[in-house]
Amino acid sequence: APSDPDLVARARAAKEKLGDKVFVLGHHYQRDEVIEFADVTGDSFKLARDAAARPDAEYIVFCGVHFMAESADILTTEAQQVVLPDLAAGCSMADMATAEQVAECWEVLTEAGVAEATVPVSYMNSSADIKAFTGRHGGTICTSSNAKRALEWAFQQGQKVLFLPDQHLGRNTAVRDMGMSLEDCVVYNPHKPNGGLTTEQLRAATMILWRGHCSVHGRFSLDSVNDVRERIPGVNVLVHPECKHEVVAAADYVGSTEYIIKALEAAPAGSKWAIGTELNLVRRLANRFADQGKEIVFLDKTVCFCSTMNRIDLPHLVWALESLVAGKVVNRIQVDQETEHFAKLALERMLALP
Ligand code: 13P
Ligand code: SF4
Repeated sequence: APSDPDLVARARAAKEKLGDKVFVLGHHYQRDEVIEFADVTGDSFKLARDAAARPDAEYIVFCGVHFMAESADILTTEAQQVVLPDLAAGCSMADMATAEQVAECWEVLTEAGVAEATVPVSYMNSSADIKAFTGRHGGTICTSSNAKRALEWAFQQGQKVLFLPDQHLGRNTAVRDMGMSLEDCVVYNPHKPNGGLTTEQLRAATMILWRGHCSVHGRFSLDSVNDVRERIPGVNVLVHPECKHEVVAAADYVGSTEYIIKALEAAPAGSKWAIGTELNLVRRLANRFADQGKEIVFLDKTVCFCSTMNRIDLPHLVWALESLVAGKVVNRIQVDQETEHFAKLALERMLALP
């Protein structure tokens, strides 16, 4: 549905009044009505870098989810204030690893005698606490666009990786990009004693995968891929690496949201694509490329939006911006100093990856 013209005018006016004082970032999964007011858009990696690149902006309004706003706070200066227009915009995957659970896991690894040889690699989609744990134990953060380089780096530092919290990105990167086998990976279940693993299993494993997943990407299945191939002969299947291993193994191309956009920009007219990622992005791309004769469909019609990304809507954005105009910072995301220190170590290791 088209946006309410009154809200559009108010958002425009507030942004104009704030000028360079405000910098609005929008993740690719955001609604069209929000993306319209973003100064930059990107995948998680690009947005982390972009946030750090505007030290002159007093306010960073982050249209995305909580862990992204936290990362922006960590990477920006002390004086800059980060705003998340709706505090309920969390991420179910990030919530699957709590600081207590991860500390307990590290104890299990220590008791099994493998902690010393283990390097934590945490997906950007994790809380600042988990990033701080990662930094404290000599590990790095990664995103879907640099997971391979992060793993290569980690295996120069140690013999094993504890990958948090997305088992699928961890497994897909290990098997697809690093030439490991599925048997090299074990899954640590935080809800079971010892993660549900024996000491022998922990010692034998190269990749210890945290049992987390994305509730959106987890719904694409091998059937989704087989069905679309049958329905659209010659279709290219392009999926995000948060999808299950069997889906990624059956796809033609795999990559981050930014990769998906670039692949479609480069695609020849007349080509057909089925995309396995969040619906706001797929719809936007289907519309954008329709008049270039590129047919873009959603990989599985039963999969829906990321409900937490969708929490950020135009009314929330207008409220956040108008509050800033009135001199009031609402929904500020502020990571405490100690957490920030160690989380920043891990984030900076990621930013320094070759
Ligand atoms: P990227 O934009 O980095 O590919 O990440 C996707 C995602 O799930 C963010 O929550
Ligand atoms: Fe989290 Fe998945 Fe939503 Fe990304 S798409 S914010 S990983 S729930």
